[in-house]
Amino acid sequence: MSDSPGKPAPIADSRLNRRVIGISVGAALGGFLFGFDSSVINGAVDSIRDEFGLDNDTFAGFVVAAALLGCAVGAWFAGGLANKYGRIRVMVIAAILFFISAFGSGFAFGVWDLVAWRIIGGLAIGAASVIAPAYIAEVSPSKFRGRLGSLQQLAIVLGIFAALLSDQLLQQSAGGASEDLWFGQEAWRWMFIVAAVPALIYGFAALKLPESPRYLVGKGRDDEAAKVLREFSGEHDVQHKIDDIKATINTEEQQSLRDLKGSALGLKPIVWTGILLSVFQQFVGINVIFYYSTTLWQSVGFDASDAFLTSTITSVTNIVVTIVAILLVDKIGRRRLLLIGSTGMFISLGLMAVAFSNASGSGDSVSFSGSWDTVAVVGANAFVVFFGATWGPVVWVLLGEMFPNKIRASALAVAAAAQWIANFAITMSFPVFADIGLTFAYGFYAVMALLSLLFVYFRVPETKGMELEAMDSDAKVKRGHFVAETMGEAAGKA
Ligand code: GLC
Repeated sequence: MSDSPGKPAPIADSRLNRRVIGISVGAALGGFLFGFDSSVINGAVDSIRDEFGLDNDTFAGFVVAAALLGCAVGAWFAGGLANKYGRIRVMVIAAILFFISAFGSGFAFGVWDLVAWRIIGGLAIGAASVIAPAYIAEVSPSKFRGRLGSLQQLAIVLGIFAALLSDQLLQQSAGGASEDLWFGQEAWRWMFIVAAVPALIYGFAALKLPESPRYLVGKGRDDEAAKVLREFSGEHDVQHKIDDIKATINTEEQQSLRDLKGSALGLKPIVWTGILLSVFQQFVGINVIFYYSTTLWQSVGFDASDAFLTSTITSVTNIVVTIVAILLVDKIGRRRLLLIGSTGMFISLGLMAVAFSNASGSGDSVSFSGSWDTVAVVGANAFVVFFGATWGPVVWVLLGEMFPNKIRASALAVAAAAQWIANFAITMSFPVFADIGLTFAYGFYAVMALLSLLFVYFRVPETKGMELEAMDSDAKVKRGHFVAETMGEAAGKA
């Protein structure tokens, strides 16, 4: 593993300044809505089924997963919009979409109406998933970029937790998710409507954030860029930085998806690295585990009525381990974390697959022989720990920082769209996998974890401490090093 082959790093301030933390937190609010909006439907789904008479499981699954399709579309377009109109405007658009989707979903009068509003919310989630990592990477001093970028994942998992709490509180206040709460609206409707509050906060926060210096330089607004670099990113030699940025972007032409074209199956190799990071992050099955964890806890003796407690345990675990990642990512690096994560996920998923081969029954009534129930629960939680401390945050950090300035927003948009499609595919295929057998399902995710290990080892670059201007657009990656395509040598390009 190489240490940053990039430019001799910090002209930047060696202390993490409060202002850059502040604006990173502001951008990461999009992650909070991402987490909140994508999981809020879990508490509402049974009532939605009753209200709209959905008795087909597959269709009910589709209603839940439909937002993910909107996410893919939102992510795809966010890149182009961010290049054209700036990072901040995309955040504001996302906040508006979050806001209207909250009311639209809450007042839905039919199932297709609900699906449409959820897809609109999905557009916002997808856009937020692209814009936060790009923006945070672009304003951060390189030394702390991993930590600040991981705030996005922290916000996502806090959002998931907040949705769980809010669903529970609303349901309890009404005496059931289908019972009336305020203004004659049932509790499940309020579960969606309350998301309007963080959406508003996000929108107002975005309006206060300074625009990204990399975007500003691309638009010839050097003076504004200089101000942001000096005041927020703690750069001392601002002119030097602006010259560096200029050398890595094309100020004449609008950036576009065409810039992603390259020699590897039509795309630049680094774009494939981004797409595969995304796909593996989903194909190890994290979102399925969240969905299924309650049943696993029941198998070790928790009651169905403890579902809230067990989901809380999983969710809080995820929050705590994200903090571990924040402490480690700029110290031990992205690659090492991913390699540890893949290994741990392979072992824990493998344990789950073995545990389920010692179980009978399916769905909500699985019974294990011997102590295999404990093995399954320990495996599932170890998996959440390994994922949450590594692949969860690190993939978002890498997607924000590993692409060169010229293609960052477009490449990140494509990689994030791939992630949402992979999320949709895993969510929709889980019931089919589970029908074949849970050993098969977890065995499949374990194999993905193993493949992800090989992929990281050979194809994922170490970007810790590198300046964004040192990311090479045509480089290939060999065992963690950037290798220039033409010259076959380390492309640390001073
Ligand atoms: C990552 C994934 C997201 C998942 C979350 C759970 O952010 O991208 O799909 O729900 O981690 O921790």
